Amino acid sequence: MEVEKNKKVYVETYGCQMNMADTEVVLSVVDKIGYKVTSDAALADLILVNTCSVRDNAEQRAHQRVSELKEHKRRNPDVLIGVLGCMAERLRTTLVEKNNLVDLVVGPDEYRKLPKLIDDAYAGQRGIAVKLSRVENYDDITPLRTEGISAWLSVMRGCDKFCTFCVVPFTRGRERSRSLKSIMEEVRNLSEQGFKEVSLLGQNVNSYHDGENDFADLLKSVATVDSSMRVRYTTSHPQDMSDKLIETIATHKNICKYVHLPVQSGSDRILKLMNRTYTVDHYLNLLAKIKTAMPEASFSTDIIAGFPTETEQDHQMTLEILKNVRYDGAYMFKYSPRENTRAFDMGDDVPEEMKVERLSEIIDVQNAIALEINQSLIGTEVEVLVERDSSRSSDDLLGRTDTNKKTLFPREDAAVGEYRRVKIERANAQTLFGKLVPGIN
Ligand code: SAH
Ligand code: SF4
Ligand code: F3S
Repeated sequence: MEVEKNKKVYVETYGCQMNMADTEVVLSVVDKIGYKVTSDAALADLILVNTCSVRDNAEQRAHQRVSELKEHKRRNPDVLIGVLGCMAERLRTTLVEKNNLVDLVVGPDEYRKLPKLIDDAYAGQRGIAVKLSRVENYDDITPLRTEGISAWLSVMRGCDKFCTFCVVPFTRGRERSRSLKSIMEEVRNLSEQGFKEVSLLGQNVNSYHDGENDFADLLKSVATVDSSMRVRYTTSHPQDMSDKLIETIATHKNICKYVHLPVQSGSDRILKLMNRTYTVDHYLNLLAKIKTAMPEASFSTDIIAGFPTETEQDHQMTLEILKNVRYDGAYMFKYSPRENTRAFDMGDDVPEEMKVERLSEIIDVQNAIALEINQSLIGTEVEVLVERDSSRSSDDLLGRTDTNKKTLFPREDAAVGEYRRVKIERANAQTLFGKLVPGIN
């Protein structure tokens, strides 16, 4: 295979952080054959869209972007267009076989094949690889990370939980974990390169197991590499939140006290239909245990409105659990039926207007709670890791508390990568606003 000279790759990424991390693996693979990253699609020889299938609107958006980006190919037939990620399997038939829209379709476990597929595509063959693997974890590929202070690190892939609404087990395949040893090597490198935060990623990160070590062992080892480096992790499933894990998070200062623990619904009947494997009682007891172990922790959740057969009463129970737990934040969605999932066969009987109405009630309740929690911080001092310039004003910096609260403040003498104290003066439901307290921590 010849290494290309002066070739450029442009990539757009949709979906979850796992997809963002995968894009960095992809960029590393194509870098080896000479493709440098560009942020301008018009300059690219290779245009990639890393897609998400989790809800229908995510898929629609990807379809739209692919047809828009196709414009570049019309101008220059040498440009290659590829679809990556969770939609690859489904797109194979619609985009490639029917409409001949793209040159490459590559599923999440096939990124190593990109150099060969690109060669094939230049030779006029369509490059398709969408098989899922039981073992692929890209253990030996160092992702091409963009500069910054925070690094993503995929520690496990796939999901075996089969929640009945969810397409992930079908798009990403079976669970598999990287070895603790190789993760540790990568974390040491990140620390040497000056990264200040590492996020351990997996669709079901706390079910990590490399045959010897579980997720608590992994977190503990990662946390000891560099005590000035923050450790985050996502997403946890309530079923795998063991006492040992809670203890590990509580006893390591640099493991962030922020727990994203999706509940999905406040109704036991719906939770059962969702195959979530816990009841509301279970879940609340678990949260109580975590709060006792770390009273300072913040919490967030995912909620689905309008799952099949959801009644007004079920919906009220979801509002109740939000009021009861008082989450710092939530990701809230309308139910979207996905082919192949078990819920798909349960019908989609909650009318669209009702889904919209329930979702907006959920959002209103949750936003009011988040606003109250954030406003209660006015007048206090928080420690933030300074992450970047504010996107709104170059005079401001954006930091994040250990508890994952975005904090905006005037730059003064602060610099990205520092830990600084900020006195909070104002807050909305998403962001804290304040002023630096003099002195570097
Ligand atoms: N592995 C993670 C997240 C998976 S996808 C977890 O288990 O928590 C992220 C969120 O998308 C889910 O938590 C769920 O709230 C939402 N989601 C998944 N499938 C969906 C669907 N078919 N319709 C609406 N929301 C969905
Ligand atoms: Fe989907 Fe459930 Fe797996 Fe999360 S745990 S990825 S919601 S099947
Ligand atoms: Fe979407 Fe795939 Fe992530 S379906 S949420 S990009 S695992």
